[in-house]
Amino acid sequence: MPSSGRHFLQIPGPTNVPERILRAMARPTIDHRGAEFGRLGLEVLAGLKDVFKTSGRIVIFPASGTGAWEAALVNLFSPGDKVLMFETGHFATLWRAMAENLGLDVDFVPGDWRHGVDPLALEARLTDDPERRIKGVMVVHNETSTGVTSSVDAVRNTLDRAGHPALLLVDTISSLASIDYRHDEWGVDVTVAGSQKGLMLPPGLSFNAISEKAQALSKSARLPKSYWDWQPMLAANTAGFFPSTPATNLLYGLSEALQILREDGMDNVFARHDRHAEATRRAVRAWGLEILCADPKEYSSSLTAVLLPAGHDADRLREIILENFNMSLGNGLGKLQRKVFRIGHLGDFNDLMLAGTLSGVEMGLALAGVPHSSGGVAAALDYLTQAAEARRSQNAQTAVT
Ligand SMILES: Cc1ncc(COP(=O)(O)O)c(C=O)c1O
Repeated sequence: MPSSGRHFLQIPGPTNVPERILRAMARPTIDHRGAEFGRLGLEVLAGLKDVFKTSGRIVIFPASGTGAWEAALVNLFSPGDKVLMFETGHFATLWRAMAENLGLDVDFVPGDWRHGVDPLALEARLTDDPERRIKGVMVVHNETSTGVTSSVDAVRNTLDRAGHPALLLVDTISSLASIDYRHDEWGVDVTVAGSQKGLMLPPGLSFNAISEKAQALSKSARLPKSYWDWQPMLAANTAGFFPSTPATNLLYGLSEALQILREDGMDNVFARHDRHAEATRRAVRAWGLEILCADPKEYSSSLTAVLLPAGHDADRLREIILENFNMSLGNGLGKLQRKVFRIGHLGDFNDLMLAGTLSGVEMGLALAGVPHSSGGVAAALDYLTQAAEARRSQNAQTAVT
């Protein structure tokens, strides 16, 4: 593997950590019970509200995203509670396994791993539940294993139309700060997130944004909990503190990440992710390969999963690309193992990094003997050039008016 230059980390998370964040974390750890820490805690807890688009409470647990899944479940439900989940892919399947391990009664709506949540299937389940036994509806906003998004808005509207009181829980681990997301507006009760993707941080922080309804219901939830209990966390957080030792240096990084997102503007961040996703899809189509996501309305702006022709091994392709060009791409997960590779285009990323990424894939396809047409990179560059041109004329127009 070449050792010069930078490694291209183009898995769909953990993502590239910007120098500014690395530098912000490289500071001495401070007393987590002291006033300086309290100020940091209050600042990041307040700053996160703009990212989740909520005026409500958010808690941060030192953990990977899986911890935030568990926190959401144990704080809201009691043994035997019925919940509805959707088989959108590998992560939805893992969340379901966790819910079952914790003693919940999961109705897992089957899916083909190429589509998002079907609001009609949800509607049918809700209509079939006159006794309101379904206590929670769980949705993965962006399925990282497939590159398919689900419309949280449509799920909310379906619940409202049915007048169903089930809680709405949404996993935004690979969408937060990459794809437009609105906790309050979409009436989400708990949003689950992690630090290592759109927030551009290393892994290690997990988040729950919590509605008032969820806070109230959590007081009577009977699943066993201790570390994940929201109550001591919410109480300590009012002064910026944590009930146990927080991940202080990751919080320095979070403060810097929030600053970067404020400087860029969330809408610009989403537009950049949309642009890189569209350029990637144009490359994939020009190569003559198939995008796993079957419905263009559900294309992910965080990552693109690409199907290889039958008889070709996606892991071999990834290995060849890593060995020759020092780039890591995402592997196929669960039943997609060896069938797809995933291009992460989220987090701290720009046009030229995407050009390099797609060049590595195109050269890798040739080296691995995967049948394809050349010209994917050229198609992506054309699109990026047009988009830059459009931005230039827009800026010129704004300068005049
Ligand atoms: C959508 C989604 N949910 C949950 C997880 C699990 O999070 P973690 O691996 O941080 O525990 C991931 C990880 O990539 C994910 O992408």
